[in-house]
Parts: sequence; C-alpha cells; structure tokens
Amino acid sequence: MVILKSPSEIEKIRQSNVMVAEILEILRQKVEPGIDTLTLDKISEKLALARNAKPGFKGYRGYPYSLCTSVNQQVVHGFPSRRPLKEGDILSMDFGIFYNDYYGDAAITVPVGKVSDVALRLMKATKEALFLGIEQAIPGKRLSDISHAIQSHAEAAGFSVVRKFVGHGIGKALHEDPQIPNYGKPGMGIRLKPGMVLAIEPMVNAGSYEVKTLEDGWTAVTEDGSLSAHFEHTVAITADGPVILSAATGKASKKN
Ligand code: MF3
Ligand code: CO
Repeated sequence: MVILKSPSEIEKIRQSNVMVAEILEILRQKVEPGIDTLTLDKISEKLALARNAKPGFKGYRGYPYSLCTSVNQQVVHGFPSRRPLKEGDILSMDFGIFYNDYYGDAAITVPVGKVSDVALRLMKATKEALFLGIEQAIPGKRLSDISHAIQSHAEAAGFSVVRKFVGHGIGKALHEDPQIPNYGKPGMGIRLKPGMVLAIEPMVNAGSYEVKTLEDGWTAVTEDGSLSAHFEHTVAITADGPVILSAATGKASKKN
C-alpha cells in the first residue's frame, strides 16, 4: 500500500532529507586519498546527532553502521572500514537519518583523487540516469516510466543496471511501497500521484548487472568485479512535478 503524504508531512520529510544532503556534502569534501571510511562513518553519525537527528541506518535490520560506504566493485551496503581510500577509487556514500518522525535517504558516488575515464563515465551516466528518472516522477505517469528512463540511459552509455536492489517509498518507514526497479518497460505499474514520496536510487555496473552479497551478510559486490556507481535522491511528487527533497538548498542540483 502506497502512503500518500500531505504537504505538511512532505515538509517534514524535506527537513530530514536536507540534513542528509548537507551531511553528504560535508562528507564529500572530506574524501581524499588516505582517509578511511570508518572515519567518514563516525563523522556522519556526529553530524546527525548534532542536529538532534538519529542515524537512519544504524540498527536497521541489524545494519551496524550509520553510513554505507561502497568502494569500486562494491555496489551498496558496504561496511565502513579502517582501510584508507586510495587515489583512483570511487566511493558510494549512502546516508539516512530519522528526524521528527520521518526518514531522509540519499546517496552519492564520488571520485578519490584522479580516477579512470571509465569510472568518470560510469558516475556521470548513473547520476544522469537518476535525474532522468526523477523527471518522470509526474502525476499521471506510471511507476515504470521512472524505471525505463533510468535503464535506457545507463544502457545507452554501455553500462548495466542492477536488478537485485530497488528504490522505494519513504516516510515514517525507511522502506515503504512502492518498490522502484531501475529497469523495465515504460507504462507499467501504479499510476503516480501527488503526495507520493519516492527514494529513487539507480545502481549501475560497468560490466554485467549480476551482484552477490559477501559473507558479512550486507556488502553487495559486482559478480564480475567491475566498478559500480550509485546515486539516490528522495523526491516528492506534486501537482507541479517532482521536487527533490534531498537537496541542500531544497532545489535540484546536478552539481553533486
Ligand atoms: N539507501 C539504502 C536503501 O534504501 C540504504 C539502506 S541501508 C540499511 O536500501 F542498512 F539501512 F539497510
Ligand atoms: Co534508499
């Protein structure tokens, strides 16, 4: 069941998501060769608590950290670690908070120093796919119009879209209906309505779309060891179209 949100609820979800966006931006600026992801995790937690917000992921289904840090062939849900990042890595940071009864959830993938051309193209195509998906989040369109826009762009760039993980509705729960696949034919699934709040999150692999989960029970990696990128925004559907809630300014930013 999809829970529609009132404008005042959307405003609360926006507050949670603005915090997520601000914290991700601070983290982004700290990413450089030599820093380790456990340090980034600790910073993210401190920044949430300083805003009287709770890290949204810690303890969620037993996830042990505040931040998901997925490096190179890691797709999503990577564990922060003491291993320093090195020049040429790409790092996905997925962060959530719980504030004033509502969740915020967003993710970015960033380069560590100078990275390969394919890494740059992968990150660019994934972010563009996210924004093309968001553009489809319009009343009257159907859910898979979002999915299709994402898949088309990622595949046109020569990459593949992960099937095993999906985007989701978000509100008082981190994961609400509907599930939002990042692939599919257009014109299918539920009709989009004002009041829906969706976390859209394409995961795009440089090689095949197959992924597997490591023995830690969380870390998803590409089966073929190829690079993977991940971008996520929480978006409200309004009569006027999509509004990105997880933007530091409250407005869409293609910059990060
Ligand atoms: N954005 C991710 C998701 O929606 C983050 C969840 S991490 C978890 O699945 F630990 F909370 F599961
Ligand atoms: Co999410």
